[in-house]
Parts: sequence; structure tokens; C-alpha cells
Amino acid sequence: MILTPDFADHGWHPLVRAELTEGIVRIAWSDGLEFDCHPLWLYEQTVGIEPRTREGTIEPGRLPDPEDLLGAGVTGDGALALSWSAEPDVRVHPGWLRHIADGAHLPTAATGEPAEWTTATMADLPTFDGSAVLDDDAVLEAWLASLCTLGVGRLRGCPATEEWMGEVAARIGPIRGSNFGGVFTVESIVEPDSTANTGLALGQHTDLPTRETPPGFQFLHCVENTVSGGLSRMADGLAVVAELRDHHRDAYASLTTDEWVFANRAIDGDHRWVGPIIDLGGPRSPLTLRAFYPVRLAPHMPLANQQRAYDAMRTFSQVAHDPRFMITSAFQPGDLVGFDNRRILHGRDAFDATAGRRRLRGCYIDHDDLYSRLRVLRRPGAARSAPTSPTSRRITT
Ligand SMILES: [Fe+2]
Repeated sequence: MILTPDFADHGWHPLVRAELTEGIVRIAWSDGLEFDCHPLWLYEQTVGIEPRTREGTIEPGRLPDPEDLLGAGVTGDGALALSWSAEPDVRVHPGWLRHIADGAHLPTAATGEPAEWTTATMADLPTFDGSAVLDDDAVLEAWLASLCTLGVGRLRGCPATEEWMGEVAARIGPIRGSNFGGVFTVESIVEPDSTANTGLALGQHTDLPTRETPPGFQFLHCVENTVSGGLSRMADGLAVVAELRDHHRDAYASLTTDEWVFANRAIDGDHRWVGPIIDLGGPRSPLTLRAFYPVRLAPHMPLANQQRAYDAMRTFSQVAHDPRFMITSAFQPGDLVGFDNRRILHGRDAFDATAGRRRLRGCYIDHDDLYSRLRVLRRPGAARSAPTSPTSRRITT
């Protein structure tokens, strides 16, 4: 067995060729793929690995000279063989090398790229078997994959208990707390601490734009719903932004550049951040929509820009509530909807809190922790709990 610098069980992809040429180790597989490796990278990831933690141990100032690599070749079973001047011969797992050459080590390799949707391509929320999510890794994997690519996924058939939200969160990763606590409750109450805890309608929005990094994912579990109204709405921010970019150029220009100060109005908290409504992010940071009018405090732009900024927000609202982009659905007791809080716009219709009860339990989990869970579930050689047939994983599309 060859130790790899990770905890995956990589398949064996035997090399057919390896040579040390002009200071670079060039390796090749039978399908013709070639991959060039720097000697010091190979040293760090083999000789330098601590076997229990699988982490590197060589401080860069202590690395050898690359010329200390005397030769490279292929063992009889297809591993990479390296001979260093002051080390025992080293064998390198060819399947591990192959997953690097294929880019399977990159952050989005296991979680997938975002897939934009509208109601023309997705008429209802993708729905999975909530009764199996605690015990069946395949159901959990399918649901989390939906959250990563489509930005939304619903579990149906969960127990409608107060504790369920926390139990499902524990299957994913650490809850990200906020001024609402860890697992919070959304319900119309006499002394609300948020517009969410009233019977008022909530226009399409994202939560906590008052934070430098708003929560990555939000989860809402319906414990009870006997009110009329209060329908839930979801729209893909990627599609909304694309529509604005392609058909409302002036609004798009304002929404992506004119900044606002966001501040929560909590009695015992004071979170603040400044940013545009549409933060496009960049190659290493995702789109972040800061669209929650209850906590938008003041313009942070020249007065001359402010009317265009209000015009732009009106356009944003019209697109975000357009049925071409917005799925409307009723929360059934036992439904648990997860969504990307920085990408998906969510809202609800008003409801009469005196004619029934609508009680949700919710929490936030950051992108990193959900992505990590999905990568572990999809890790090569990962053990599976309670395999299920593919058809039982997804109830509807
Ligand atoms: Fe919300």
C-alpha cells in the first residue's frame, strides 16, 4: 500500500512512462495523458507527509535542492518511482497523481458548478425523501448536490418535530449562529425581533446582508402550518442577475456599483456592512446578493446616484417577483427547504396570524461546511450507509 497525502481511496491508474527531463518529472498514462511535476512538489507530498495527519511537514526553507532528485521511473505495477540522493527510494500512488492531473482535487470538482434555472427549466423545487436523510447517505448526497448546483432542494416527509432541524444540521456540519441564535424560529409573535417574525409579506430577499460574509446556506423546516396565505417563493439570483444584465443595463450598472449601508436593528447587536445589492464576486468568491430592505439603512453613494439606485431596485424587485423566475409553493408540515442564501432570493406572502399557526425552525450553515460534507460523501472509496435505489432519492424534479 502506498500512503497518499489525503484520506481518499484512489483507484489504481498505472503509469506507462516516467522520466526526469530538464529538471521536471514527466509522467504518462496509457490513454495518452501526460503530466509534468516539479520535483519539490513531489518531495513535499511524499517524503514530507506525516502518516497520521497526512499533512506536510517540510518548512519551505528546509526543502532539498531539486537537483537532489537523481532519477524517475515506473515500478512493475505502474507506480512512480523516485530516487533522491539522501532518501530511501520513494513510490508515488499513480491514482493519486491521476486525480491531480484530472483536476479532481479542485474545490468544485466534487460539488459541481452552479446551474442557472428559471421556472421554464424547473417548475417546482427539487424534492428528496426527508424520512431517509438521517440514515441514508445517498439521499443526503443527492440533496446536498442539489443545493450546490441548483442552489435549492426540499426534503419532504420529515418528522414535524422541534428537534428535527438540529438533527439534519448535524448531518451536514456546524451551524453558523447569528443574533437569532443557532436553530431559530420563524413565527408571528407579539414582540417580533425581525420582520420575519410577523405575518407581513416578505419580498424577495437574502438574509443577513449586514455581514461581511452573509451565511452561505439557509434551512427552513416547517413544524406547523395551518394559516391561509404565507406561500413561499424562491428565485434563482443567477437568472435574475443575467436578466438584469441582458435587458436592464442601467439598472444592472447601478445595482452592481452603487453601495448601501446595511445594519440590523437588534437591541443587543449592531452588525453593519457596506456593499452593492448585487456583489458579483470574482473567480474565487461567489455572487452575493444583498437584498433585504428591512436592514438597508442608508445610501453610501453620491446624492446624484440615489434616484437611479431607487429606480434600479424597483426593476430588481419586478424581475425577482416575475413568475418566469419565481417558484411559489406552500410549506407542508415536515417540509425542510435548504437554499443558497447568497444566491437564491426567497420571500413569502402575508398571512393572518390570528387564524392559524405557521411555525418554522431554521438555521444557517456556511458554504465551506456543506461543501466539505458533500466532498467527503463523494470521496473515492467512501463507505456508504444504507444504500437505496436511485429512484427513491429524488421524489420530483
Ligand atoms: Fe429570510
